[in-house]
Amino acid sequence: MDRPLNVVVGVTGGIAAYKTIQVVRDLVLAGHRVKVIATDSALRFVGAPTWEAISRQPLSMSIFEDVATVHHVALGQEADVVVIAPATANTIAKLAAGIADDLLGTTVLASRAPLVVAPAMHTEMWNHPATVANVETLRARGVTIVGPDSGQLTGTDVGPGRMSEPDAIVAAALAAASRAAVPADANVSVGAAHARPRDLAGYRVLVTAGGTREPIDPVRYLANRSSGKQGVAFALAAAARGADVTVIAAHLDSDPAAALEASGLHTIEVVTAADLAAAVEREAAEASVVVMAAAVADFTPAKFSERKIKKRAQGERMELVLVRTRDVLGDLVAHPVPGRIVVGFAAETVTDRDELVAIAREKVARKPADLLVANAVGADRGFGTDDNEAVVLAASGDVIADVSGSKRAVADAVLDRAVEMLAP
Ligand code: CTP
Repeated sequence: MDRPLNVVVGVTGGIAAYKTIQVVRDLVLAGHRVKVIATDSALRFVGAPTWEAISRQPLSMSIFEDVATVHHVALGQEADVVVIAPATANTIAKLAAGIADDLLGTTVLASRAPLVVAPAMHTEMWNHPATVANVETLRARGVTIVGPDSGQLTGTDVGPGRMSEPDAIVAAALAAASRAAVPADANVSVGAAHARPRDLAGYRVLVTAGGTREPIDPVRYLANRSSGKQGVAFALAAAARGADVTVIAAHLDSDPAAALEASGLHTIEVVTAADLAAAVEREAAEASVVVMAAAVADFTPAKFSERKIKKRAQGERMELVLVRTRDVLGDLVAHPVPGRIVVGFAAETVTDRDELVAIAREKVARKPADLLVANAVGADRGFGTDDNEAVVLAASGDVIADVSGSKRAVADAVLDRAVEMLAP
């Protein structure tokens, strides 16, 4: 973002308010104008002088300040993005219901700017059905929910509920502002290089990304070299085209993980092939497009050893027995849903295009995905790179496109084909 933004940072009553100081500081140092609105309970954790010093602006607290300018309306209208961090369970409930009994609530209602919410609460409160439903309501309204992370909470407990780190919140705020900066009538997605129509608006797109990990014992697992870059590129491309995107993320390298986190897209984290299969089963029914970009283990250890396997007990040779996992893509295409497009992938160790096409043709005959994206992989190609080169086959086995370029460009080229196949 090259122009300074007007950012409203709403701080509500959670101990994580101390981390929001860094959010405000990072935004100010990046040249943005930050107005902090603190609730009464927020001020019990971090006081007004700190917010005023860090934001270099007077603190806004009450709807009854500066009444002549209708303060909340002015703050809301001027904002390019509104960030609420930490957002308590109570604040999330009030946002979901549209309650405006303080300056933050009225400002949110008076604003058309994107809203980014960073929840922080104890795991029990985050998992409570009321909070789950409220968060779903906000997501459905287009609110970006950042985190929460899993980890040490206040006190001795550990679990999901920790507010995300300041850099993730700042990245999500800037990404939301940048998405919203595209004029509504421009009919293009963000970034000239990726200019595409919003032709997936109103569609749900489910993307699997990354590589699964199959545990052998508490310290070891079987994994693969997938970085998750191509899957995350699909998710970002679909979101930029207006889709309502859910990502089922197996292990991702740090770059795609950070890009996904900053995007604020709804993400379900999984570890094993079985976790991924269960998540796809839950989510795919609602999707118009399913992109199976994850590298899913075909085999998993037959038995998980609760205790670390000791080499002395094995001697010079150890055999690991593996059993087949569920073929998620195979199951999806065996039970087609009218109007749903399923995109499968094939990563093959071949050296020429003809061999790649032959293997892909055999694969799509066995697993008739609507589109099969096949690419060559090897020690120095495919995994972890920023570019990709692939052939796209239809269920008939016909090659319908040769695509190459950045992983984002490959994703957009494949989505172009998926959009053509979607019923209006
Ligand atoms: N896939 C899946 N479930 C699995 C394994 C793979 O859904 N248990 C999906 C991947 O997400 C990818 C495609 O299937 O979209 C690639 O499958 P792959 O394992 O390469 O193909 P197979 O048909 O299993 O053939 P082979 O292993 O012999 O190459």
